[in-house]
Formats: sequence, structure tokens, C-alpha cells
Amino acid sequence: MPASTHRPGEAVLAADAAGASDAAQILSLSGITKTFGATRALDGFTATIEKGEFVTVVGPSGCGKSTLFNIVAGLEEPDPGCAMRFEGKSVIAADLLGRVSFMPQRDLLLPWRTVIDNAILALEVEGTPRKQARALAEKMLPEFGLAGFGQQYPHQLSGGMRQRVALMRTFLFKRDLMLLDEPFGALDALTRTMMQRWLLDVWQKHQRTILFITHDVDEALFLGDRVLVMSARPGKVKLTQKVDLPRPRPAEIVISPEFIRLKRTLLEAIEEEAMKSFTAEGK
Ligand SMILES: Nc1ncnc2c1ncn2[C@@H]1O[C@H](COP(=O)(O)OP(=O)(O)OP(=O)(O)O)[C@@H](O)[C@H]1O
Ligand SMILES: [Mg+2]
Repeated sequence: MPASTHRPGEAVLAADAAGASDAAQILSLSGITKTFGATRALDGFTATIEKGEFVTVVGPSGCGKSTLFNIVAGLEEPDPGCAMRFEGKSVIAADLLGRVSFMPQRDLLLPWRTVIDNAILALEVEGTPRKQARALAEKMLPEFGLAGFGQQYPHQLSGGMRQRVALMRTFLFKRDLMLLDEPFGALDALTRTMMQRWLLDVWQKHQRTILFITHDVDEALFLGDRVLVMSARPGKVKLTQKVDLPRPRPAEIVISPEFIRLKRTLLEAIEEEAMKSFTAEGK
């Protein structure tokens, strides 16, 4: 798909014309634009996410990926004139607050809370009684590789374990759409590969829809049903790449000719944008 050229006004019309008929869609974003003072972070980001899809998002640093997630999580409103639909209904960002699970770029574990109490944070905010929330989290510990660590504090955990606590918190907050902002960014290559395989298992088991930001093209392809490549800031979709690799995907799929072909296409698109963003920053 070529780069989007939607202006916010046009996008509203396009989204309205689409109507609420497509039951397969969970999220539809049309011409999402966001300006912070003199900085335009996003400009006409347009994409539709289907229920149960695993969509990965790659793009140069500063192109507006986290801003996009903040909007979909309901923490920021986009500029006027943008259109969003969620579960078939027209929404503004504020309507989405609490309706999607969101793992921000930093894991945000509270150092004074145990693993269990960090994991239940969103449930508590939602009003679930603490005892009940703790019991739910306790049951989930083995699946997240944290059996026996429920009473430990974040500083007693490895980087991979901290990420799993943050992910467990996101999964415990049961919403159909999950936003994961570079969840494995801080991990070494081996732990990362293990976490990717583990995430695919839990995604399939829990039947969620995942939007996943990463800087790693291999990760984007290994995990995704589709990869959205974003342009340099202001961010929009430069390329949508479908990943027709069968699942479950074995680790060695990364050296298959099809994987390498897809990787080459993505790298070309990303490098072009990374160069643009680099030269823009240098000015
Ligand atoms: N609250 C804010 N106030 C002002 N500017 C902001 C704010 N949030 C983001 N920006 C700006 O918007 C642009 C996009 O930032 P964002 O964090 O979305 O990028 P990103 O693609 O997530 O980058 P990275 O890959 O480094 O995480 C940047 O220029 C950033 O400085
Ligand atoms: Mg970011």
C-alpha cells in the first residue's frame, strides 16, 4: 500500500462511508494527526485492525509510534477531524480509556509493590477487590514463567522477568485489544527469542488482538500477521506488508527464502525513512 495521503477531513468521510458493517474489524483509524506545539508527531495515520490479528508496527525513532498508542489507549486526543472506530462504533480517544490493555514503552513497575501487586494494578484501579485480583494473578504466575516469584519485588527480578510482570498486568486487564509498546526492547537476543515464542502461545490461547511496536524487523516479521511500516515524523503508514508465513512458525523460519524476501522489502522501506528522520534531526 502506498503512503497514505489522507487529510483529516477526507478521512472522516471515508470512515463514515465504511459504516459499522464490518464485524471483523476491531479498530479503524482514519487520518490520525497529532500536533504538539510546533511538532507534528502524526500526519494522516490510517489503518484497520481485524479481530484476532497480530499487527506489528515499525518505524524510525520519533515517528509517533508511542503517540499513536497513547491515542488508542485513550490518554491523548488526536487533532480535530480524525476518525476512529472501535468495535464498529465511532469513538473519540477518551471513549477508549479502560477499553484496551496497554503496556507502555517503559515497564512502570512500582518498586514498593510485589510481583503480584504490580500485576493486579489495573484490576484494582478498575475496582476488582484486592483478594480476588490477587487470586487471579497467583494462578497466572506459572504461565508467565514467574511461579514462586509472586512475593518478590521488582529489584529482585531479571529484565526478562520484569517484562513478564508488565505483560502479565496487561493480560490480566482482559480487553480484546492489547497495545504493546516495544515490550522486549531491553532484552538480550536469546531471552527475546524465548519471549517471542511464549507471547505467540499466550496470544493464541487467549485469542486477543495485538498491536505491537518494535524496532526489530525480524521480530516484526516473526510475530506479525501484518507489518505496518511508518514514515519518518510526522508518522503515517508508508507500507503495509502482509506476512503469509504459516503458524506455528519455527525458529528457523528466519532463514527461509520467503522470510528473507519480506525482510529485504521492509528494510528498504525502513532505511529510507530512518535516513530522512536522521537528516531532519541534524538540521
Ligand atoms: N507529550 C508530548 N509533548 C510534546 N511533544 C511530544 C509529546 N509526546 C511526544 N512528543 C513528540 O512527538 C514525536 C513522536 O514521539 P513518540 O514518542 O511518539 O515517538 P516514537 O516513534 O515512539 O519514538 P521511539 O521509537 O524513540 O520510542 C517526538 O518528536 C516527540 O518529541
Ligand atoms: Mg516510542
